[in-house]
Amino acid sequence: MARPTPDARLGDLHAMRAKVLSHPLARGLAPEETSRFIATLPAERYPAVAYANRGAIACIQPRGGFPTFEAQRRLTSALSDAGADFVPLTIDSCTRHNQYETATQLLHRSEEEGKHYLNGYPLVSHGHEITRELYTGLRKPVSLRHGTPDARLLVEVALASGIVEIEGGAICYCLPYSEGFPLDRSLLYWQYVDRLCAEHSTPDRPVHRESFGPLSATLVPPAIAIAIEIIEVLLAAEQGVKSFAVSFGQTGSMVQDLATARVLRELTRACLRRFGFEDVRTYLVYHQWMGQFPQQPEKAAALIAGSAVITSMIGADKVVVKTVDEALGVPRPEINAEAVSTVRYLLRSYSCAAPLSCDVVDAEAALIESETRSILDAIFAMSGDVFWESVFRAFQQGILDVPFSPHSDNANKLVSMRDVHRSIRIVDPGKVPISAHDAAHERELLASSASGEGKTYRHLLEDINMMMA
Ligand code: 5AD
Repeated sequence: MARPTPDARLGDLHAMRAKVLSHPLARGLAPEETSRFIATLPAERYPAVAYANRGAIACIQPRGGFPTFEAQRRLTSALSDAGADFVPLTIDSCTRHNQYETATQLLHRSEEEGKHYLNGYPLVSHGHEITRELYTGLRKPVSLRHGTPDARLLVEVALASGIVEIEGGAICYCLPYSEGFPLDRSLLYWQYVDRLCAEHSTPDRPVHRESFGPLSATLVPPAIAIAIEIIEVLLAAEQGVKSFAVSFGQTGSMVQDLATARVLRELTRACLRRFGFEDVRTYLVYHQWMGQFPQQPEKAAALIAGSAVITSMIGADKVVVKTVDEALGVPRPEINAEAVSTVRYLLRSYSCAAPLSCDVVDAEAALIESETRSILDAIFAMSGDVFWESVFRAFQQGILDVPFSPHSDNANKLVSMRDVHRSIRIVDPGKVPISAHDAAHERELLASSASGEGKTYRHLLEDINMMMA
């Protein structure tokens, strides 16, 4: 059986690192200099400190990335001035796909023509020296948001730039975004990233990792999302990461949001304890609606307001906010800043002493927990030498199966749809090993709803577009 263990720690990081740092765009990067620079950052740049000081309401984190230094500098100031607790650095998609040359060319074109030819900040092309200047004097964490299966060089540059929150993971940044990037390579490359983050951590100043729980953001049953989040924190813990946020995306059902938050928080702690990783500090992050967004600004604003209230109800440590520009493209800075201050207003207006619960949430949480435990126990029981290999084979065998993932290693056998209360139900688990009892319970809950008379293409589209109407 391949259980998570610190013995899985990458032994040859230094050799691997030398290879990554031999890339022409790694110019000037030196591990010791990065360590020295990180040691000079104000303590408030560390998520562990920001979370410890957050008080009663959740931290607020927008997203944001523009190609040029100047545009990014203005955006950083606008978001920070609007009250963002975490400042984002969203990376462009060429860099995410390791197409650094294209990113560099499009950066130059953006600079020359004063127009944005990239959908984010090409961090590797800019390099760490100038990027440090974006954050001079900043006393809050900077968060690297990307979507990169091979983020080794990107994270080297990020750390050297003083960015000590790194989003992503081997599964969550591969399965939803890529069709062909080999999952086993992603698992290996993210071991490197986790190990790197651990190497640049000290007990007081842990480099923080965050997983991306929304996945494909389309009808993902909570148990699947939670199992994957827990696998990612365990993989990071194996490499020595000590500060980690698990996350999930607004499900579209308030009951499932409350239940998911509870199970995710509690099972994460339980699994870390079970494998001897209780010294890992964990946090819960909530993503405002990640599915199709309405185009009308008033509906988009209402959706954002509703999920701000749910953020309070679930007691999240941080909320990642959307903007009323979501359906239109990359948000304008003033609209992005407005989203931050609106969400702060709502979190203050509707604070909540503790996560809410009631019978219906308890019942939903019991079902989700039972399903998640079945999935995780099946993976922990797989034969093999190392945990990451079990995770890889779990996808090949359909034990883990993410709806609407474009990836060729994903089984796509699990079928889900919404019940009349808009909760996500498992119609057919495929090869996902939930118990017969839980599978029957899912179908009962679906059958008791008006929309349960069989799955049609029209129902599916309605479920996917549910926030549009
Ligand atoms: N600036 C701001 N937000 C962005 N997103 C993606 N790129 C950017 C960017 N450059 C946000 C969008 C998208 C989500 C995954 O990230 O809201 O839906």
